[in-house]
Amino acid sequence: MSTTFTLDTATSRAHPVPEPVRRLTVPAIQKRKGGEPIVMLTAYTARMAQLLDLHCDLLLVGDSLGQVIYGLDTTVKVTLDMMIAHGAAVVRGSYRSVVIIDLPFGTYEASPEQAFMTAARVMKETGAAGVKLEGGTAMAATVAFLAQRGIPVMGHVGLTPQAVNTLGGYGARGRSEAEQAKILDDARAIADAGAFAIVVEGVVEPLARAITQGVSCPTIGIGASPDCDGQVLVVDDMLGMFERVPRFVERFDDLAARISDAARSYADAVRSRRFPAEAQLYR
Ligand code: KIV
Repeated sequence: MSTTFTLDTATSRAHPVPEPVRRLTVPAIQKRKGGEPIVMLTAYTARMAQLLDLHCDLLLVGDSLGQVIYGLDTTVKVTLDMMIAHGAAVVRGSYRSVVIIDLPFGTYEASPEQAFMTAARVMKETGAAGVKLEGGTAMAATVAFLAQRGIPVMGHVGLTPQAVNTLGGYGARGRSEAEQAKILDDARAIADAGAFAIVVEGVVEPLARAITQGVSCPTIGIGASPDCDGQVLVVDDMLGMFERVPRFVERFDDLAARISDAARSYADAVRSRRFPAEAQLYR
């Protein structure tokens, strides 16, 4: 599949890159273990993908879109059709980054065969380079099944939001020695099964470091450790779109306040009949 961006700009607001850009590959990401930190952000729309693409190595179409885009209370309600629609948009809007798409809850856990059918549909209908799935030892056979059949898999261990109903919340994991040992085993099992990278989410820092040292593939931390091989954040958290700021988030902007200010200015302009002005009229 061509990765050259070909939107017709006569009918679109999108801006293609001036020259074709070669997309990064999963093997290129794998080689970054212990090297230059890997930069990953979530993206859910074509326009956001265009803006993030040049700065990132990986764009993750996370099932966090359930909360961020659709206002759902958990990721459990996210559907495969949602992931495919947003995944295809992010692939269309990006040229350089490796695009990875989350498999949503209930579409892969039953068997390796179910996971393969879901992941194959995601890859065919979006053009993404691979999928991400949550879980440790219990998912190792599935990761191996996909990886051996041409589907790059990113693992996800520690705090796994799709398991919120069994975990009982979103608190950091690995506070007991037993839990640390379990999560380390999970990460090793997924890596040994052939995951090309692993997201390590919401764990105590020494555990994230131990996982990074203990697996052969790159780890990508969120609420984890600066020693991970890369970092990821939910883009809307990083941009300051939400009032609630989890401990592991740094806000690099205050976009919610700026959008609200812009909306107020627009409303004032409409109410005072200052907008539209001469420049916006067809004479
Ligand atoms: O769904 C998501 O956005 C994620 C990241 C937080 C890693 O899984």
